[in-house]
Amino acid sequence: MNLQSIKQRYGIIGNSVGLNNALSVAMRVASTDLSVLILGESGVGKEVFSKIIHSQSPRKHEMLIAVNCGAIPEGTIDSELFGHEKGAFTGASDKRKGYFEVVNGGTIFLDEIGEMPLGTQARLLRVLETGEFLKVGSSKAQRTDVRVIAATNVNLLEAVKVGKFREDLYYRLNTVPIQIPPLRERKEDIYQLFRKFSVDLAEQHRIVPISLDQAAKDILLNYSWPGNIRELKNISEQITVLASDRMVGSEELLSFLPKASGALTRFPVLSNSNHNGSNNNFSDREILYKILFEMRQDIQDLKQAMLQLVGHGKVIPPAQQLPGKNWSKEYPAPASAGNGFKTLDNSSNSPVIIHHNVEDPTANYPTEDVHRVEVVEESLSIADKEKELIQKALKKHKGKRKDAALDLGISERTLYRKIKEYNIDQ
Ligand SMILES: Nc1ncnc2c1ncn2[C@@H]1O[C@H](COP(=O)(O)OP(=O)(O)OP(=O)(O)O)[C@@H](O)[C@H]1O
Ligand SMILES: [Mg+2]
Repeated sequence: MNLQSIKQRYGIIGNSVGLNNALSVAMRVASTDLSVLILGESGVGKEVFSKIIHSQSPRKHEMLIAVNCGAIPEGTIDSELFGHEKGAFTGASDKRKGYFEVVNGGTIFLDEIGEMPLGTQARLLRVLETGEFLKVGSSKAQRTDVRVIAATNVNLLEAVKVGKFREDLYYRLNTVPIQIPPLRERKEDIYQLFRKFSVDLAEQHRIVPISLDQAAKDILLNYSWPGNIRELKNISEQITVLASDRMVGSEELLSFLPKASGALTRFPVLSNSNHNGSNNNFSDREILYKILFEMRQDIQDLKQAMLQLVGHGKVIPPAQQLPGKNWSKEYPAPASAGNGFKTLDNSSNSPVIIHHNVEDPTANYPTEDVHRVEVVEESLSIADKEKELIQKALKKHKGKRKDAALDLGISERTLYRKIKEYNIDQ
């Protein structure tokens, strides 16, 4: 089968070099039994590729099972994949077959392989190398013949470096890597995809299809599409149904892009003039990084203003409320700050006199230990800030992940992954 007929059969739109390369590697490897590692951001089409590979392989009449390693709790993933014996763990009232046994002869698609726990990785390596596996709670090896297609949207080599992913498994899976480029690196596909999604939906619901004016097209091409084709599909369909005018202009289009893309005008990736693709590699993480960087600056400014107020005796810090003794910075307040605020020398153990000031209620702070101002240095870790933002968004949207993800400008799946990664309680 040639590239064109594959595209037609599986509804693959686009003709960019990146997409065509990925597809032709997929077609060449399909007929073998080799493991395949599909790499690409969220929503680029990794799952579609796994279906193409399976259905173009000699195993096409056997089963294809897709398993999302990121969505199965660590405690049950071994049993899901390899099965368990009766009594293997509390609640294992019966013997159970795992996917590697059930799919014998077929293909398993292991999505989000980077989320697979290390213990499960060891079992997977064994089955890839020897065709053998052990059920949980059993010591009797069983044979199976399963082809593995794995996919990830994280950098597995980085995961290897930090000890989250086994190096031997990485090289075993990476025999044939297929890199599906993000949409912003194959801009020539964007408008074609938009047309297809929009026309299909219009036909389906018997509404008049929409068109974009030139400015709107420019925005479409220059938006960074962090959720890639899935995001483009959602937005194309939304606009097709909801646009007030069938000729959609830039403003209307902008109103459909996620709020975080208020970043549209702030980041060079999204400016209209940039068509050369050289500066277009901003991921949602990078955008977040920039926002955090600006927030950090704001916090520094606030800190500065606060210190000035303290210096003028306008504010007495709530020292008793500051947690623990782990101050990393100490700012001695002036020996006599006036305005009813008296301080003593650090070395002195004598009691601190608080001069009650009726004009300035903040000066009446009831503490006995206000002889210096202690400021806990804020954490500047990107991870901490990211976690904080995610918690805020979840709180704001009352735990609704979909809305929180939209607000954060990341995909729901990325949000899901990060909630796990940061162990965020909901
Ligand atoms: N080239 C393409 N042409 C048309 N539709 C596509 C193309 N690639 C992907 N899609 C569609 O985009 C959506 C997302 O694709 P898919 O689920 O395969 O992405 P993914 O990479 O597995 O995403 P995730 O990492 O979030 O799991 C699906 O609806 C799929 O049918
Ligand atoms: Mg997927």
